[in-house]
Amino acid sequence: MLLTLPKWFDLHTHFRQGPAMASYVQAHLDMGCAGALAMPNTQPPVSRVSGTTQSDGWSIEGYSAELRAAGADAFEQLIVPLYLTRQATAAMIRDGAASGLLRACKYYPPHGTTNSEHGLPMDDLIGGEVFHAMEEHGITLCIHGEQHALSGPDYIDARQNAETRFYRERMPRLLDAHPKLRIVCEHITTHDAAEFVAATPEHVGATITPQHLLHTLGHLIQGLKYHLYCLPVVKFQDDRAALRSAVTRAGQTKFFAGTDSAPHTTKATACGCAAGCFTGGCAPQLYAMAFEEAGADPGTAGGKELFERFLCLNGPSFHGFPASSQHFQMEKAPSQTAILETPAGPVTPLPLGMGFDPTWRMVR
Ligand code: DOR
Ligand code: ZN
Repeated sequence: MLLTLPKWFDLHTHFRQGPAMASYVQAHLDMGCAGALAMPNTQPPVSRVSGTTQSDGWSIEGYSAELRAAGADAFEQLIVPLYLTRQATAAMIRDGAASGLLRACKYYPPHGTTNSEHGLPMDDLIGGEVFHAMEEHGITLCIHGEQHALSGPDYIDARQNAETRFYRERMPRLLDAHPKLRIVCEHITTHDAAEFVAATPEHVGATITPQHLLHTLGHLIQGLKYHLYCLPVVKFQDDRAALRSAVTRAGQTKFFAGTDSAPHTTKATACGCAAGCFTGGCAPQLYAMAFEEAGADPGTAGGKELFERFLCLNGPSFHGFPASSQHFQMEKAPSQTAILETPAGPVTPLPLGMGFDPTWRMVR
């Protein structure tokens, strides 16, 4: 049975920079993706709105032009958020909003993940001029919601972790101080975060990755399957169950696709492992597997409706652009994933790295 869906939007992904960009963009186009919100954690970061690239930062204008030249001009939508660094000012937000170049900003916890060393503590931003300007001008705040600078034992423990701490301690303060701020809680991984988002007003939404809907910490630890290592790290069964129930709740409008596909040409090294799962080329197949496991098989009429909401409709509606009028097709049949050869080196997709084959495939 063929599943025909509107082309979908990946509202959190990493296309990087340099000659490999075109390979990553193509992998997204190949999986029926009609547009993306492309993360600004390049080196240097995307820390200005306009103007030429300087040694301390790209601009949204400059990075978007590079992406378009690398094939992203085929997308219906391309959003590059501004990386919130110490350079960000209220004037930058106001002018950026007026020019139309600025649609979103990205919060990174300092040193919390790949290239996040330019991030600021959330407490430095709450109540400040940048968030007030974003609130006033309708600019969306994309949040990597983990408390920074926790020691190992507090970073992940049975009853709390960096994400639960952030959603219990920082997010209520943020919403109190900025009640109109549009917020995307990105790549949420926990029961706490899912409950938090579900209880907030409509202008607070969340993205969820395929790996967090499919896997748990046990999958990562058993055999140390490091291709599953991403941040925030996959969590426990009750967390996965909460994410699955959030995305399959009838009529839900707050949760949408954001793969966090994060290619690394060097993943595990002698002294650590780069964070990021590469799901370019296979994300809709993985999401379909997760919906099936959650009891909402996209091959059934009811499951299809829920899947389409999450993958194709809620993201555009949250970000205020139209859903795609083009379509792509999938079917429930085994498929294989392969190493992506790029000019920067080979990248291993998550299923291949973990040793499983998707049970859905793209129909081209
Ligand atoms: O796993 C991750 N990889 N999480 C992030 O927040 C960043 C990303 C990357 O850029 O590699
Ligand atoms: Zn990311």
